[in-house]
Amino acid sequence: MSQGTIIGPLEDKQLEPGEPRTRRFFLAAAGIAGFGYAAALAYPIYRYLASPNEMALAEAAVKEVTLKDAQKLPAGSVLMFKFGPRPAMLIHHANGQWIAMTAVCTHLGCTVQYEPGPDRIHCACHGGVYNAYTGANVSGPPPRPLQLFKVAVTPAAVEVSRV
Ligand code: FES
Repeated sequence: MSQGTIIGPLEDKQLEPGEPRTRRFFLAAAGIAGFGYAAALAYPIYRYLASPNEMALAEAAVKEVTLKDAQKLPAGSVLMFKFGPRPAMLIHHANGQWIAMTAVCTHLGCTVQYEPGPDRIHCACHGGVYNAYTGANVSGPPPRPLQLFKVAVTPAAVEVSRV
């Protein structure tokens, strides 16, 4: 047979031992690559859809956090910490009052920040503002207040727990 002669589909061709099965190999490689690509796309979507439930379970499992040496936090400052999987903050107000609350904005979930100057909690994502004592949503798009925690200051730590 001369080079360049087409005699039919490759599947019908009798292969000599050691002759590469180029079309089958290509189709198998394309199938594996396609499966890998589909899995790579599907996994983040699965994680995105499953994460609220997982976060809620992980959050519910944590009832209390002990912040060792946090009793030394100067008045007028804040300590960011994790309460389960979510960020939270312990505020030691200038008047001596201790307040702890979640630091997850109730609008779209950005992490909020305590601003000691105006003594407020601000969300930089869309300008939401919360009361730094009650967690109440004061202005901007947040639809609900921040969740408050119970605070107990001891000589060695600050214990933060669900109300
Ligand atoms: S996420 Fe906080 S105001 Fe939008």
